[in-house]
Amino acid sequence: MKNGSLVVVGSGIITPAHLSQESINRIVSADIVHLLVPDPLGKAAIEQLNCNIKDMGDLYYDDSSGRNGNNRVEAYDRMVDSIMADLRKGLKVCAVFYGHPGVFVYPSHKCISIARKEGFSAEMLPAISAEDCLFADLGIDPGDLGCQSYEATQYLIYHPPVNLASPLILWQIGVVGDLTFTQMHPADNGLAMLKARLLERYAETHELILYEAPTLPLMPVRAEPIMLANLDFVEVKTITTLYLPPCQTPRVDLDFCSQWHIDLTLV
Ligand SMILES: C[S@@+](CC[C@H](N)C(=O)[O-])C[C@H]1O[C@@H](n2cnc3c(N)ncnc32)[C@H](O)[C@@H]1O
Repeated sequence: MKNGSLVVVGSGIITPAHLSQESINRIVSADIVHLLVPDPLGKAAIEQLNCNIKDMGDLYYDDSSGRNGNNRVEAYDRMVDSIMADLRKGLKVCAVFYGHPGVFVYPSHKCISIARKEGFSAEMLPAISAEDCLFADLGIDPGDLGCQSYEATQYLIYHPPVNLASPLILWQIGVVGDLTFTQMHPADNGLAMLKARLLERYAETHELILYEAPTLPLMPVRAEPIMLANLDFVEVKTITTLYLPPCQTPRVDLDFCSQWHIDLTLV
């Protein structure tokens, strides 16, 4: 194994309240911390744990073109390059992303994969994601009916099979339909396309929830019920997640249950 190691941790949705003790230890003991946490208070809390910080938020600015914050995918590649440059110097690198570092975070998976291929020790620690907050705030237990999670634009494009007897969570509706990766809002017809797609399976009157977990202590939860018919008129932010409750009851496979003598009174 080469000198230099990488650990990727998550700051949770409220930082530092959601930071695990294990993540705190790894931040404190790192030679350098690469940080992508949007909330200034969360950032300040991490700076108190370790003052050797590189703010990956700065990498939204592209030095070579002198342009600010345009293509997110290009910015993510610059984050990977910056993390890898310190790792190749033999440093103990800790990268901190908000929420769970492996949930909808391309650069975290990418740099772990490159680091391992190059012979470095690289690992990811689990953390609290927006979905974990949603389960707590909306009182959803995926153990009841299962749970399906998709990125909203991918849902438009791939239209994956969905179990209508199980909840559906759609991430990144705040940038739905934007294939340029340059916007901080939905594409012009993004919400209309999403509504049209959902109407292929759900009724106009189906009640959905616009969900935003608090990012600061004492901030209220946004859990706003809306009818699917109104989806193209609602206000969404980059942090908004869409929750769709099931619209069918689960079907019992009577043939299977009878073949295997399953007592349905116990289910
Ligand atoms: C790039 S992903 C990052 C997810 C993050 N790594 C996590 O573990 O939650 C951004 C998406 O996560 C969801 N999200 C982030 N913050 C949220 C919040 N405070 N409340 C609800 N959803 C949130 C939204 O769907 C948003 O578009």
